[in-house]
Formats: sequence, C-alpha cells, structure tokens
Amino acid sequence: MQQLLWINGKREESQAYKSLKSPYNEEIIADVAQSSAEDVTNAIDAAAEAAKEMRAMPAHKRADILEKVVALLKQDRIECAKIISREAAKPIKAAITEVDRTIMTYQFAAQEARRIYGETIPMDGAPGGEGRVAYTVREPLGVIGAITPFNFPMNLVAHKVGPAIAAGNAVVLKPASQTPLSSYKIAEYFHEAGLPSGALNVVTGSGSEVGDVLINDERISMITFTGSPEVGKSIRENAGLKKVTLELGSNSAVVIDEHTNIEKIVPRIAAGAFAFQGQVCISVQRIFVHESVFKPFVERFVEEAKKLKIGDPLDEQTDISALISKGDVERAQSWIDEAIESGAELALGGKSTDGVLHPTILLNVGLTERISCEEAFAPVVHINAFNDFNTALEWVNDSKYGLQAGVFTNDLQKGFKAAKDLHVGGVMINDFPTFRVDHMPYGGVKQSGTGREGIKYAIEEMTEMKLVSFHIN
Ligand code: SIN
Repeated sequence: MQQLLWINGKREESQAYKSLKSPYNEEIIADVAQSSAEDVTNAIDAAAEAAKEMRAMPAHKRADILEKVVALLKQDRIECAKIISREAAKPIKAAITEVDRTIMTYQFAAQEARRIYGETIPMDGAPGGEGRVAYTVREPLGVIGAITPFNFPMNLVAHKVGPAIAAGNAVVLKPASQTPLSSYKIAEYFHEAGLPSGALNVVTGSGSEVGDVLINDERISMITFTGSPEVGKSIRENAGLKKVTLELGSNSAVVIDEHTNIEKIVPRIAAGAFAFQGQVCISVQRIFVHESVFKPFVERFVEEAKKLKIGDPLDEQTDISALISKGDVERAQSWIDEAIESGAELALGGKSTDGVLHPTILLNVGLTERISCEEAFAPVVHINAFNDFNTALEWVNDSKYGLQAGVFTNDLQKGFKAAKDLHVGGVMINDFPTFRVDHMPYGGVKQSGTGREGIKYAIEEMTEMKLVSFHIN
C-alpha cells in the first residue's frame, strides 16, 4: 500500500516513499510518502487559509465535528487497534485500550469546545479603573504544528489535534516516522466528519526536515511536541517567539512504604512497568521498597512478570512484543549489562530473542547507572530497598526528569509529605506513576517538559487570552 500525504483535504503524492516495516517481523506494511520542504510549506499554506474558517466556526459546530470523529472511531475500533498494533508492535490488547482512550479524548475535546470561558475583571480594583465593564475571551492561535511520538500513535495525536480543533485552530501534524498510518486514518475521519479542508494536514518524512520547516515558518503560532528531551531542547532554542509545549521523557519512580498490602499492588505495578514493553513516558522504571517488605515484594513481582507472554503483537494472548527498533534493544541491553557489571543483581530477563527484550528485573542498582537515571523506554525495572521514607523521596527527586511519581502508603502524613516534596508534574498517592485519565492535567517539570496536556489545559495552551474593556461614560 502506498501512503500518500494528506494536504488540504486531499491525498497528495510526494517525490519519495520509504518502506514502513513491522518492528516485530520486519514485513513491509506500507510505502510512506516522505515530504519535501515544499510539501510541508503547501500544508502550512492550506492550514493558514483554513485557520480563518476555523476561527469563525461556532463552538457547537467544532464540537459536532469532534463528536462525529468519536462515532467513526467507535465504529472502526478494532480496525484502528490493528493499525496501531502493526505499525508500533503494540500488543493488540493494549492497542484496543488505546483506541478506547482516543475515543474518550475526542469526547472530552467535544465537551470542552463548548466551554471555553473567560472571566469578568473588576477594573475598579485600581484607581482610574472605575466606570468600566471588562472581560476576557480566549481566541485560537491560528496554525499549530504538532509533532507526535510512536508510543501512542492515536491517543497522543488526539491530545494535540483534539484540543487544537476544539479551540478553533488549524493543524499541521507530523507523526513519528514509525507510526504514520494511525494519523492518516484520523485525518480521513476528520474529513468525513466535515472538518474544513486544510484544517488538519498530515506530513510524514524525516523528523528534522519536516520539523525544521514547521519551526521556521512564521505562520505557525505554536509547536506542540512529544518526544525526547534533546529534540525538545532544539525546538525551544529555534522556535523564536512561537509558543512551545514539550512533553518529554522520564524515569518514573514508585515508593512502596512499610505495611503496604503487597499482594494487592504487585499486578498494578507490573502493568505499569511492562505495558507496551515499557515504552510509555510514565512507565515504572525505579521501584523503591521499604526493607520490611522488600523480599516478599521482589518474590511476588518476579512471579507476576514471569506470567507475561512474549509474542506477535496481533495475537490476543501477547503481553510483550518487539521494541520499536533493534537499536533500542541494543541500547537497553547495554545499560542492563553495565548495571550488572557494577554489582546489580539480575532477578529476571536480561536478554532478548528475535528483537524482543524480555521483561527484566534488576535489584539494588546504583542510582547513577544509566538504567536508573536515563529514560529506559524498555521493559526494565530496578527494585531497591530503603529504610527511611524521606530518603526514598529524595531518591525519587534525584533525577533530571519529573513527570509523575507514585507512592503507596497507609500513613496519611507520609502521603501528604510525598505530595508536597516530590518535584514532578503529578503525584499519585496509592497508585502507580503510570496512572493517567485523559482529562487530567498531564506534563512534567525539569527535563520532562513544559506546559500541560489534558484537553482543558491543552486548550489553554492553544488559545490566547484577549481582554475587552468597555468604558461606560
Ligand atoms: C506518554 O507516554 O507520555 C503518554 C502516557 C499515557 O498517555 O498513558
């Protein structure tokens, strides 16, 4: 299948195509258009024109379009899950969950489109402000450049396209090179739902080439990016006066305090560590367990991880499949080996077969090891013991990242202390750091990014506040 570009409501040929291969078995899935700089500029031209229509479109119409996309996704739920599963090697069970979340994300976007509120400002609070009625409105930015990652090819696209359209913007979307097909599918749904031509364009190809055009074109008002800190930094450095939101990586931690019911929490934490092979920005990577429950926790956790079935992502029994690239298997394997050489104990896994890295559990890893302090983005966790709760919180904070953290404790005081002291974008008391529902504010501190997603919060980022003041004579 040849996958053409999607520009101005039409499929467009490009000058070059590249084979998209399954990360699991290397079968060719599609030949994907590789945009030239001119293609990207054409997409921006179309978006700039459509932005005028979007700006004038009433909220109920924008909501209606988003609701129609929801209906189409519901109708094609399994087909969409298979697209994700094939291009990302996401186990089909997880891909179905992603489609269900995508449906919810667009539902939230439809709802939020109808409630983009301003506020009245009591101008007479300052001398000279008397005799005025003033209020704020939120206006769309215009054209938004959205650059999305491979790990949630539909839902993380929805987190950018949904609020952008809800707020009355137009979008040029550059999906990850490995997962373009989900985005093209979504563009077709928006077209069918009645979105004006040019209000959503999809351009695929080399990240730097397409990204450079988006970043350098003055007509793009905002770049919203999810991906690596290196690329995030470069976008921020080059974006000039554009708004930029960045959702970057993490090495998320969970703290398990004494007296915690191990039996109850182990399956949840194992899911947080190994779902989609650990390729989730809020995957559990570092587990800090109170020494009094360390041994039973490790035993139960290893037992739970052993149940995971490795295999073809399209097989309904599969829990773990291939990482997105062979290079990522090699990188993660070398970090595991380094940690073991430095004295960590291997409790499970530590090897790969046919490009699939086995669920890996390391014990007592030095906190300066790369497998601890870099983002693993692989099915690897380490478990370390602590004897003082405050030390465990310090370990969580001892990271260049700060996306989300989890703390299991029965002690209310410790729960509040963790909520206050942890330097992250979200603290989950009595849950794993991997917890996310799609309307909550989501984003990080430090190298985990800037700005927040979660539809209402993304709409704030994707609109500009305007003040209107009437002077009553
Ligand atoms: C991410 O990887 O940042 C997204 C996680 C999620 O939406 O569950």
